[in-house]
Amino acid sequence: MAHNNPWPDEGNTGHIWDEDLRELDNPPPLWWMLSFYAGFIMIVFYTLYYPTIPLPNSYTKGVAGWTAIEEYHEDYNILKDWREKKFSGQEEQLAALSVEEILQNDELKTYAVKTSKVLFGDYCAACHGSGGQGNPNFPVLADDDWLWGGKVSQIKTTITNGRQGNMPARGMMGNLSDEEISQVTDYVIALSEGRADDAAVAAGKGVFAKGMCVACHGPAGKPLAPAGAANLTDGIWRFSGDRDEIIKTITNGVNVKKNGETTANTRVAIMPSFKDRLPNADVNIKRLAVYVHSLGGGQ
Ligand code: HEC
Ligand code: HEC
Repeated sequence: MAHNNPWPDEGNTGHIWDEDLRELDNPPPLWWMLSFYAGFIMIVFYTLYYPTIPLPNSYTKGVAGWTAIEEYHEDYNILKDWREKKFSGQEEQLAALSVEEILQNDELKTYAVKTSKVLFGDYCAACHGSGGQGNPNFPVLADDDWLWGGKVSQIKTTITNGRQGNMPARGMMGNLSDEEISQVTDYVIALSEGRADDAAVAAGKGVFAKGMCVACHGPAGKPLAPAGAANLTDGIWRFSGDRDEIIKTITNGVNVKKNGETTANTRVAIMPSFKDRLPNADVNIKRLAVYVHSLGGGQ
């Protein structure tokens, strides 16, 4: 910095570097000052207009009463109205047509399937898995092994009213011994492996008749009509194909109740009713029935 100023009349501040670099004392340009004041006015405006200053238990609300969440709701409603208008045709058709008719209309079927995924995720996936692939103790929906029937109308009834299979403990009369249960278990395993006529499981086959398993599971381990009993011949296990687990099922039954209370070791298998659980149930049950039917195993 130089102490003697070689440019005394120039109006510089006297700060001089590198011999001739010097600081002048000009006012800032007008445009710059105007922006500066405008910015200042904006700050005052913002502070008064919008929620701004945090207070111990609250905040200044601003004269406009604006909040981000309200703006979000407004935008969301605009989008919702738009969607409702855009898809109102399809929604009306879903409401008006039967599930069978929806299935026959490719465009409408595709629409029902596409709009089911979120619904299925919210209401069904916790038990049945996100793609209907099942979970331990919850049936697979994406195959063609149906307890209650794979026709779309049967699926719709299942979702509407719920389902609950019943299998008595220790055979229909409740009188099978541990040994008989062990024998019939071997027969059940043989059924699932296609060796039901093996001499080795003849005793179990007799127990299958004695325990009246045939009444529900059918004479050949395949239910004659879907009424909740598992198909024992297809190697698809509703609970488990593990020998001890099969013994447990036959010993304790399924959904067995005593004096209104579920017994200790019985299998619990309850499909809840959705007619009062789903929003807009009438349309959404049809939508889901078509979706489940499309998962792979609809009949
Ligand atoms: C709390 C668990 C649970 C939820 C949630 C649930 N389910 Fe189920 N679902 C079951 C059980 C358990 C069964 C088997 C009932 C039985 O064994 O008799 C079942 C059976 C079914 C069946 C019959 C399968 C067959 O083989 O015949 C269909 C179809 C079905 N559920 C669809 C749905 C749909 C669609 C939803 C969602 C709206 C849903 N479920 C939600 C537990 C559930
Ligand atoms: C009153 C009808 C009924 C009778 C009688 C009955 N069952 Fe069942 N059984 C069912 C039902 C219903 C299920 C399936 C429950 C479900 O999936 O919700 C079932 C399930 C089973 C399973 C489990 C299959 C799997 O996929 O995990 C086995 C094993 C079985 N039964 C064997 C037998 C044997 C052996 C007998 C005779 C001792 C018998 N059942 C008698 C109704 C019956």
